[in-house]
Amino acid sequence: MKSQTKTTPITGDEIRKAFLDFYESKSHLVISSSSLIPEDPTVMLTIAGMLPFKPVFLGLRNRPSPRASSSQKCIRTNDIENVGVTARHHTFFEMLGNFSFGDYFKKEAIQWAWELITDVYHLKPENIIVSVFHEDHESEKIWRDDIGINPKRIIHLDEKDNFWSSGATGPCGPCSELYYDFNPEKGLKNIDLEDGDRFIEFYNLVFMQYNRDSNGILSDLEFKNIDTGMGLERMAQILQKKTNNYETDLIFPIVKEASVIANIDYFSSEDRTKISLKILGDHTRAIIHLISDGVVASNLGRGYILRRLLRRMIRHGRLLGIKDYFLSKLASLGISLMQNTYPDLKNNKEQILREINIEEKRFLETLDRGEKLLNDFICSGEKL
Ligand code: SER
Repeated sequence: MKSQTKTTPITGDEIRKAFLDFYESKSHLVISSSSLIPEDPTVMLTIAGMLPFKPVFLGLRNRPSPRASSSQKCIRTNDIENVGVTARHHTFFEMLGNFSFGDYFKKEAIQWAWELITDVYHLKPENIIVSVFHEDHESEKIWRDDIGINPKRIIHLDEKDNFWSSGATGPCGPCSELYYDFNPEKGLKNIDLEDGDRFIEFYNLVFMQYNRDSNGILSDLEFKNIDTGMGLERMAQILQKKTNNYETDLIFPIVKEASVIANIDYFSSEDRTKISLKILGDHTRAIIHLISDGVVASNLGRGYILRRLLRRMIRHGRLLGIKDYFLSKLASLGISLMQNTYPDLKNNKEQILREINIEEKRFLETLDRGEKLLNDFICSGEKL
């Protein structure tokens, strides 16, 4: 008989598949990613894996199954200035999630999260720290007594950090977050989870049991639900032992291609060059999915977000010394990297590249006109 060796999922695709397979084995219905354009009129873009299920949590729509899991494409632009600067901020990212719609609650959510990270991803318990909402004694007890985590590894946080909601109103609840500790040798005294060099939060378990109304009043939802989110890029950073998400196999090929176009060696380049390259890696993934999901560049709403991302890319391309058109090269690579997971990218490739080319041409013409005006101005000044 063949001996069975346990291999750790290591590529981004393997990590995603292992998550979905694990929850499928726990009777979760695997649901494909929804569009980045949400049905929910209160938000502009899909910012979390739970968003497509918001009507289910609110009891406005039948549940697709008592348990579900998904890998949802998401966009968040509130931290856009941090993209490329920190190790882990993104505009586009994939959120792996398992959901219970009035089915299991805290105990199973915590037990399965632990089983997944230790048995499937083979993370070592000494690298894991968990946080709990300071009033949530039940979760603390499950971590301590059922999982057997050293109480010193359980950090109590307040509403600011451990109470999750998708917006000012809507379904919400206390949460428990899992952090990876890159330096367990530093010990368990004075743990500061804000220390981004030492800790990375990678899995958020939300115990969604309330609805918040427009006056800020919480009322019980009809059922107690589970909404979790694991950042695929963050898990890839951990398992691939990289110092930042951009150097994982999910993003690095695009960063590398940008460096080739700019004729730069990524690893020996200075920080600000690396930041520009990382921004190109990040934004490429965002723009191809936005256009594929039907967003058209404009000066309003989602269209403005797309235009801003495209223009940031061109600006950073210029900072890197790229003079020619280059966006469609990066976009084509981004499409080929993700088309197996998101076949729409392949089907919409022509349209994606067309939209990108139009915007790039328009913006470069504007820049060239601006540069000419500036030169004329400087020259005329010199004659004075
Ligand atoms: N909705 C929670 C989050 O985005 C858990 O998925 O963190």
